[in-house]
Amino acid sequence: MKVFQKLDDFLDFAWAQISRGKVDKKSPARNPTFVTSSADGFPNARTLVMRRSNRKNNQIEFHTDTASSKMLALEKNPRAGIHIWLPKVQLQIQIEVVVEVNVGDITIPNWIDVPTSSRIAYGTIPSPGSVLGSPLAYDYAPNQKRFAVLVCNIQSIQLLLLGAKHIRAYYKKTTNWQGEWLSP
Ligand SMILES: Cc1cc2nc3c(=O)[nH]c(=O)nc-3n(C[C@H](O)[C@H](O)[C@H](O)COP(=O)(O)O)c2cc1C
Repeated sequence: MKVFQKLDDFLDFAWAQISRGKVDKKSPARNPTFVTSSADGFPNARTLVMRRSNRKNNQIEFHTDTASSKMLALEKNPRAGIHIWLPKVQLQIQIEVVVEVNVGDITIPNWIDVPTSSRIAYGTIPSPGSVLGSPLAYDYAPNQKRFAVLVCNIQSIQLLLLGAKHIRAYYKKTTNWQGEWLSP
């Protein structure tokens, strides 16, 4: 088990894991849980594919259908959570983000990079979450106008590393990611 004595080293380790989400299809960081708040007060958690991460500008990016319920939730409250559990390294990562939603022409460069076979995820008819009369009573209609890029601006990162003795730390953008140790 790794033991980190320095807050910076611990954060570097976590970012190395987050970065694998984009490049390593087998990494659990590829499929974070993305949590929004709904109007009825219940949190909504779902799995998404991490499309990009960038430590320099503190961003993580996801793609979604503009007609999905998370879009309405984000319109009402752009604050969201990202959760990643990495069993191999026994690390939990909890991230607070403020989400900027990009739709329309600004997303065309991203859309061009989405493989044709994957574009079916954006434009389902009827909209995702609609009630159906039977399980396959929907059609795929890939549509760039139904494609949204969720740019998640990271506000804080909390880490918990399990081991003989657990290690927990919290880092905030407002203190320039200086970090502090927390009791696990
Ligand atoms: C492994 C996996 C990956 C997924 N990736 C995405 C994704 O990248 N974007 C997306 O919108 N939904 C993705 N989904 C579907 C979402 O989990 C969710 O069901 C869908 O976005 C509708 O969510 P909502 O109704 O809460 O908005 C994925 C589901 C799984 C199981």
